[in-house]
Amino acid sequence: MAKSRKQKAKTKAATKKVVKLKSRPAAKVKAKANGLPRASSKPYGQDGKALQGVRILDFTHVQSGPTCTQLLAWFGADVIKVERPGTGDITRGQLVDVKGADSLYFTMLNHNKRSITIDSKHPQGKRVLDALIKSCDVLVENFAPGALDRMGLTWDHIHKINPRMIVASIKGFGPGPYEDCKVYENVAQCTGGSASTTGFRDGIPLVTGAQIGDSGTGLHLALGIVTALYQRTRTGRGQKVSVAMQDSVLNLCRVKLRDQQRLKAGPLTEYSQYGEGIPFGDATPRAGNDSGGGQPGRILACKGAPDDPNAYIYFITQAPVWEAICDVIGEPTWKTDPEYATPKARLSKLNRIFERIEQWTMTKTKFEAMDILNKFDIPCGPILSMKELAEDQSLRKTGTVVQVDHPTRGAYLSVGNPIKLSDSISEVKRSPLLGEHTDEILKNVLGFKAKEIADIKGSGALSAPEKKEKAA
Ligand code: COA
Repeated sequence: MAKSRKQKAKTKAATKKVVKLKSRPAAKVKAKANGLPRASSKPYGQDGKALQGVRILDFTHVQSGPTCTQLLAWFGADVIKVERPGTGDITRGQLVDVKGADSLYFTMLNHNKRSITIDSKHPQGKRVLDALIKSCDVLVENFAPGALDRMGLTWDHIHKINPRMIVASIKGFGPGPYEDCKVYENVAQCTGGSASTTGFRDGIPLVTGAQIGDSGTGLHLALGIVTALYQRTRTGRGQKVSVAMQDSVLNLCRVKLRDQQRLKAGPLTEYSQYGEGIPFGDATPRAGNDSGGGQPGRILACKGAPDDPNAYIYFITQAPVWEAICDVIGEPTWKTDPEYATPKARLSKLNRIFERIEQWTMTKTKFEAMDILNKFDIPCGPILSMKELAEDQSLRKTGTVVQVDHPTRGAYLSVGNPIKLSDSISEVKRSPLLGEHTDEILKNVLGFKAKEIADIKGSGALSAPEKKEKAA
């Protein structure tokens, strides 16, 4: 992005050329349309990374923000993580499994970043931050509401120093009655509609293990950032990108708001409770393991259950493969029996149908069942444990599960970039140690001279305050 002036010049030149080429064959003119450069002739994956040249001032902590900046780093952005001297991101020391080493909580969310320690409230710290703001394209933060302003990093201040800066923020809530609240994952799951629609009808609301509030919001923010970067190539100016965790969760629960509105038209026939004759209330109910779409589905026990807590398979009775299902489970008469032959007729008998299918799945392991059902295109999926996923060789091959080396904790497993770009291949590099790149950033990114660096360091802006000796 630092080369954008050059790019502009190139773009102008390209546009001029298009005008000159008027009389040439249409195909050639088309290849130069939209001011894009000529298609690279380098092999795919060998012409840099998608976000190469983008520099991120990463003020994120815990999970939501770090998920976002980690993705941007995997796409090639230079992510500079600013951490509080002494402690750094609080997750470095949370859920510690190897004494003295950064926790997995931290290492798995902060790959491919550089770390600099700055006390953002120290005058010399503010000086370094202002220099970083000048040389970065995006500032990403997920502090509690008002914290960035209290550091003096208001939108006006940032925009005055660098009008091209994109300021991207995650908060728990958008403007409204809860805008000042601090929020963590499960709070977002509860306030975004997920918990009220997860679990069984006769049980309490449940949160899910998928971190839809934190990682889900980080994903939303990453999309907002790259979109703002794209718009900036036209407008030349930055903008604010804001994502509320409540909004992200609700966005992921869109189908449940769909069902809320369908309730006006009558009972939700694909929910088990319809077949069980239990009336619906005025809000979307919890649907257990019913499928979220129009095709009934359930989790069914396989050989080994319940001793093995994961010996289960998700089974969908998709209408087009109903006849195959009947043959596989040994109920060929259900293919033509009017009580079972149509999706509508089956709705009131889903419990009976799934009990019968389960009699069959219990004779097979979840993998045997998967193999047999796949031959008939019957949609299904084994319940895979974290252990199984960690050992899955196909996930290792695609880089979705990677082994990373770390100087203080040794080798560990992580989830790599789940978004695969054919011309921007992600390499997973270990997370930085606290302040590992402080000197390098001051010198090479910000251009401070040795004397200035010594002065800044001497001021205490980059180091933890010394602990006072206890009085004897
Ligand atoms: N130097 C000096 N001070 C620093 C600093 C640095 N490098 N980095 C952070 N701080 C200060 C902040 O300025 C703030 O001080 P202030 O309250 O006096 O203004 C203080 O550290 C605490 O920051 P805060 O964000 O309030 O942390 P917290 O641990 O109290 O709260 C959250 C954590 C996650 C609840 C909160 O940050 C939040 O609600 N974030 C938005 C929603 C979110 O992302 N939640 C999910 C997290 S996974």
